[in-house]
Formats: sequence, C-alpha cells, structure tokens
Amino acid sequence: MADSQPYATLDTGAKVPMIALGCYMGKPGGDQELVDAIKAATQVGYRHFDTATYYMNEDKVGQGLRESGVPREQLFVTTKLRNDCHHDVEAAFDNSLKLLNVDYIDMYLMHWPNSTKPNEPYVADDSIDFIQTWKSMERLLETRAGKVKAIGVSNFSTKTLPQLLEHAKVVPAMNQIETHPYNQTSELVALCQKHGIVVSAYSPLGLTDSPIFKDEDVLAVAKEIGATPAQVILNWNMQRNVVVLPKSITPSRIEQNFKFVKLSEAQMAKINSIEKDPKRQYRLCKVFDPKTQTVFGWSYERLGWTTRSL
Ligand code: A2P
Repeated sequence: MADSQPYATLDTGAKVPMIALGCYMGKPGGDQELVDAIKAATQVGYRHFDTATYYMNEDKVGQGLRESGVPREQLFVTTKLRNDCHHDVEAAFDNSLKLLNVDYIDMYLMHWPNSTKPNEPYVADDSIDFIQTWKSMERLLETRAGKVKAIGVSNFSTKTLPQLLEHAKVVPAMNQIETHPYNQTSELVALCQKHGIVVSAYSPLGLTDSPIFKDEDVLAVAKEIGATPAQVILNWNMQRNVVVLPKSITPSRIEQNFKFVKLSEAQMAKINSIEKDPKRQYRLCKVFDPKTQTVFGWSYERLGWTTRSL
C-alpha cells in the first residue's frame, strides 16, 4: 500500500490519511458506480473513506471496501449520524455498523448540529439540542467500546463549537466542514486546531465544474509547479493540516486527486490571500433550501455561518 501518504493524528492517537474518497456521489443511494469508484481508489492508495447515513449508501461503501481486498486495519472509515436520529444515537450507530457490515467505525460524526423532524429534513426539531446529542455520542464510547474508535462533529462553526466545548467531556476528534480556497474559514480552522480537533474538508474542490478550477491565482500556482488546479486546491488544504475528502467516480480523477505536491510559502500565501477578496468567498455546496431559507431547518445565523452561498 502507498504508506508514504501523509496522515493527520487525532487526539486519540489514531492516524487519519490526509486524503479520503468522499462517497456522496451527488445523489442519495449507491450503485455499482460507487463500488467501482471505491475499488479504483484503493488501487491507487486511498485508505480513508467518508460516508453518512444521509447518503443512503453505507451498504455499497461496505461492499466496495470488502471487494477491494484491503485488510480492515489499513482502512479509516467515517460515517455520520443523520439529523432525524439525534434522539436515538445508539440505534442509529448500530444501523450504520450493520449496513457497512464492518466490525468497527473509525470515526462517527454528528452530521449537523441541527436535529430535524423525521421525514421533514428542513423542519428543525427543537426538542433536543446538540449538547444533549453530544452526550449520547460520548456514551457510545462506553456502550459501543471497540465498535467506535472516535467521535466528532460536522458543520460546527465558530459560534456553535465553543458552545459544545463548554459542555463536552470528550473533545470532538474531528470537525468536518465545507472548506476550500473560496471558503477558507481560517478562523474556524485555527479554533479547531487550537483544541486538537482535526479539520476535514467536504466539497474541497467546490463540486462539479468548480469556479475555483478557473481561478487566476490557482491557475498561476498550478503552472508554476506543473500540477493540475485540483491538485493545487487539495494540497493547499493539506498543507494547512486539513484532511480533504474529494469525490469522484472517474478513475483518472480519483488518481489525479491522490497526488501530493508541495506549495512554497509564497504559493500558500497567494492562495490564502483569496480570502481577502469578498468577490471570491462563497459556499459552493448546495445545502441551502430557498423555500425555507434554511440549511436543514436552521438559518445561517443559527449555524453561525457567515460566508454566503453562490
Ligand atoms: P466526477 O465524479 O464526474 O469525476 P467535490 O468533492 O468538491 O464535491 O467535487 C466533486 C466533483 O468534482 C465531482 O463532480 C467530480 O466529478 C469532480 N471532480 C473530482 N475530481 C476532479 C478533478 N481532479 N478535476 C475536475 N473535476 C473533478
């Protein structure tokens, strides 16, 4: 295996490969395409796979991993608690374990701070808050010892993370957020890293036909180091110790994304400076629902999100 790949270290001591294959393939569910993508990824050295119950493909992710033939102990598998399962974390966890059909999960994340009503993904369920949900996640470490290696969160902000930390017995090992050169969230990244929380980046390329691929600063750095824009974007994040979770079903892109190139300090500074340009700061992941004006039932303000969506 490509064990020369870089790793981040969790506060549990576990090593996390810096590049994962993001397994949400643009639509809920999973089919042979996903199984094939996972197998193609393992062949070029990926050992970290990121899914969620919400993606409705945990069974296919498990199938792809088994068919890859890579020993379980070489893999790092992340899945996430669905928003309508905050009231019963244990049952949700057991269900993920069963669907993935693995002996343990390396990282179990609270997918969103938001709890939502069953079958109403844009209606907030305020009968429970994320601190109560986190207590249930903490209990998993005892009741499901050995079956869950680490717990963390996703989509927590500089507003919600401190609220959680104030009450947490176990500091989340990871915060998975949307971050890329057009949504750098450097304050949040610094806050997480100060607390030993590994940051991982979803939509690190900015979805299909990403505008970041055409960014003049990204293109300039790509030309200087003889890399593709995608490689510049991913390595920029990794060089600030952010784990990246790019997704692709295209074998050549899966391979292209798994390449470690070095940006100089000046090249890092050039990409960092994009954050100072308000015209190039927006979220690209399409989670905002215009009808309810929310992201899964919560306003941007409640989430503590400041960057607008494209
Ligand atoms: P595809 O799956 O057809 O290869 P993100 O992970 O930021 O959400 O972006 C994923 C999207 O970007 C997918 O649509 C994927 O397309 C595309 N993609 C992944 N890797 C690359 C790449 N190296 N160059 C161009 N597009 C890519």
